[in-house]
Amino acid sequence: MFGKVLALPSAIPEATAIRKQLVINDLSIHHEDSNKSRSKCLPQNLSRFPLFLQYMNYVVFGGSRGIGAAVVERLMNEGHAIWAVSRSGEVPIAGLPDTIDGVVYAPGSINLKPFRGLKLDEFRADFELNAMGAVKALQSCLPAMKTAGKASVVLFSTVAVQSGMSFHASIAMAKGAIEGLTRSLAAEWAPQIRVNAIAPSLVNTDLAARLLSTPEKVEASGKRHPLQRVGEPQDIAAAVEFLLGASSDWMTGQILAIDGGMGSLR
Ligand SMILES: NC(=O)c1ccc[n+]([C@@H]2O[C@H](COP(=O)([O-])OP(=O)(O)OC[C@H]3O[C@@H](n4cnc5c(N)ncnc54)[C@H](OP(=O)(O)O)[C@@H]3O)[C@@H](O)[C@H]2O)c1
Repeated sequence: MFGKVLALPSAIPEATAIRKQLVINDLSIHHEDSNKSRSKCLPQNLSRFPLFLQYMNYVVFGGSRGIGAAVVERLMNEGHAIWAVSRSGEVPIAGLPDTIDGVVYAPGSINLKPFRGLKLDEFRADFELNAMGAVKALQSCLPAMKTAGKASVVLFSTVAVQSGMSFHASIAMAKGAIEGLTRSLAAEWAPQIRVNAIAPSLVNTDLAARLLSTPEKVEASGKRHPLQRVGEPQDIAAAVEFLLGASSDWMTGQILAIDGGMGSLR
């Protein structure tokens, strides 16, 4: 299922490693060139460049389009090494790194139908992609996350799990499993690996294209949200970056609603 890695794993980590080395050298050269009495200033200098010492290896399943692509762009802009896995990538998944600091599993579906029109195979397909796909992704990355010592996982649910919505039986069932998986693994893997999920409402991606195919549909969908618009991939990517990074270091087992207020306000 996950046959490919988009971001060339041989090129990106090398570039990142070189940059990391250069920055560390820069700091130490600066230190060595300075008067000895300035050695006490080194921690202060280091704290001015905290990000330079925190490049991470992140694996983004579903990183070619939509929310996953926005996550990849954001993380790469911060200088991290990214392995973006999808069906349309170019490099075999065997190229995943030995050490993984964070995993995002973004593949998912929006299969909205009345219950009577949903075939058993559709329930199975939604469950396979949304829930079992996440399980397989995490199984493939677990040894490398353990090697990292500390890692963070971000999964995807939907607003329709906590708020009952017509025609969402199949996707809400599959994503409900993700919420259970999130809390179970958060308990099992603490304190080394944190596991959180994001529950978005409607986001403007290929996956939602049918629901947002005209300006009128975009406007009507936006108006159903207290914040009066549908989501953009960047709205969600910002939360993913937060959950992956040190700013959320005391958070695990949470389902974060990024939904324009849809799930909790009337
Ligand atoms: N968009 C929304 O309105 C919305 C709302 C609630 C929840 N969500 C959830 O948010 C997550 C991201 O959604 P999105 O809108 O960004 O989705 P998207 O636009 O469909 O992008 C999905 C990504 O996953 C990859 N992918 C799809 N099927 C795959 C498979 N079988 N194996 C490997 N990769 C696969 C796609 O690339 P390839 O096609 O190249 O494989 C693509 O990179 C999903 O879990 C979705 O359920 C989205």
